[in-house]
Amino acid sequence: MSRILPGLLAPVLLTALAAGQTDFQPRQGEPLRLLSAADLALFFEGQAAFNTPLPEADGLGPIFNDGSCGNCHSHPAIGGSSTRTVTRFGKAATGGLPFDPLLSLGGTLRQEQALSQPCEEVVPPEATVTTERLTPITFGAGLLTAISDADVLNNQLAQPSGYFGAVSTVSPLEGGPARAAKFGWKGGVATTMSFSIDASLNEMGLTSVFLPQENAPNGNAVTLSNCDAVSDPEDAPDVNGRTRIDKFTNFQRFLAPPPQTPQSGTSGEALFDAVGCGVCHTSSAYVTQPTAWPALSGVSIKPYSDFLLHDMGALGDGFVEANASETQMMTRALWGVGSRTALLHDGSATGGSFGTNVDTAIQAHDGEGAASKLAYNALTAGDQALVVAFLRSLGRAEFDYEADNDVDEFDWFFIRPDFTGPLGSFTPDDPGALSDVDQDGDFDLADFAVTQRAYTGNL
Ligand code: HEC
Ligand code: HEC
Repeated sequence: MSRILPGLLAPVLLTALAAGQTDFQPRQGEPLRLLSAADLALFFEGQAAFNTPLPEADGLGPIFNDGSCGNCHSHPAIGGSSTRTVTRFGKAATGGLPFDPLLSLGGTLRQEQALSQPCEEVVPPEATVTTERLTPITFGAGLLTAISDADVLNNQLAQPSGYFGAVSTVSPLEGGPARAAKFGWKGGVATTMSFSIDASLNEMGLTSVFLPQENAPNGNAVTLSNCDAVSDPEDAPDVNGRTRIDKFTNFQRFLAPPPQTPQSGTSGEALFDAVGCGVCHTSSAYVTQPTAWPALSGVSIKPYSDFLLHDMGALGDGFVEANASETQMMTRALWGVGSRTALLHDGSATGGSFGTNVDTAIQAHDGEGAASKLAYNALTAGDQALVVAFLRSLGRAEFDYEADNDVDEFDWFFIRPDFTGPLGSFTPDDPGALSDVDQDGDFDLADFAVTQRAYTGNL
């Protein structure tokens, strides 16, 4: 793949973007800009709820996976991912019988902790298939919810031959019409609120008016009645009329999308598209629908997913869930991926450098993902490194040379020598592009003025 093309395109794109861009992008875990003061207060109230252990008296357990959303969604900021996985179990299709989620035995999600030992849930002997599920980020969740179904359907219609992406339409747990799912490794959840309801019960044991029944340990109602001391539904409104689920939802709804620096024009992104990654991890922008919140409406975002189910062959996890078959998975949005230390639904691409983990993840692409993997493998090592550099830019904020989601004295060490003044020039592939806030191909005083506000110190 020639690198002349992006070289020619870059100045055009950069000029187009420069006009609007006068500030650094919010970092991972920060609220959307342009929220009203009241909504910003809801964000911080929700952030505290998301990150505070749920007391037993308020509904934790009797079986659960962890005590707060933030215990799992923590990296590189509250609301993020982690290497934490949870276990699913079920019974694979055999002898003409379909996949069995073993609901009567507590499937498919195992709750691995219990308030008291007799209630503990185990993987039952009937299970013939298990998988781990990795914790994804929740950044930008409100924006993803505001992508229209028509846009997702258009992705399906635009699939080239050989791709069979399918929209996963599901009903929100809070009510309202069925919608195209954006969340979950198998595309089982349509809205931010639905995931808050689902995770409250299934990860923490918090019942609500939407899901008022506790999970019985391995489906055993007697064990449950011996272990469950709090009456349902547990999630009650506070003095302001807001439940915990309302608060979790507010926090996630108002989370900014992960930044991307540079925002466009890297050779790696052009190569990513050229080898076919962008068929599923679509690199074109979505513009969100009108919503009740101006900060979420009409916003241009690049999550790098078509939000379709694809048959991933051997990368499938063997589970039937919502609309997904054993081998179908939803294209994982890649925004924020540059900060991740574990990849893939089971977290199996982990333990190495970012580049090694990405390579492991790519090599696991099978089924509809196989052709782009082979095309990637045919690139030169140098071009592969450019693709990895592009993936590293997803989640990276301006001036964050260390890629640790802050701007401190260690970044300063790199920032300083990159100053070019107005006569300088570099391409989006050069390190200096990290300091080029207005994306006009230099690092001058206009960009430098932003460093002061972007500076966080060591968080
Ligand atoms: C024990 C760890 C753990 C806890 C606690 C937890 N989560 Fe999660 N979260 C996960 C895992 C694992 C997934 C992937 C689920 C799947 O698709 O199977 C996930 C997925 C999500 C997603 C979907 C993200 C996406 O893009 O697919 C959202 C939103 C979410 N969680 C919100 C919450 C909220 C809100 C809470 C607290 C009520 C919470 N989580 C508690 C581990 C956890
Ligand atoms: C057919 C659609 C498709 C194509 C083409 C595709 N992917 Fe994916 N990609 C997926 C799906 C689905 C997942 C989630 C896989 C899973 O369940 O673990 C994924 C996951 C990933 C992940 C891990 C993300 C995470 O959060 O763990 C990376 C990195 C990735 N893809 C990069 C690429 C690159 C690079 C290419 C091109 C070489 C590519 N993908 C091509 C569908 C695709």
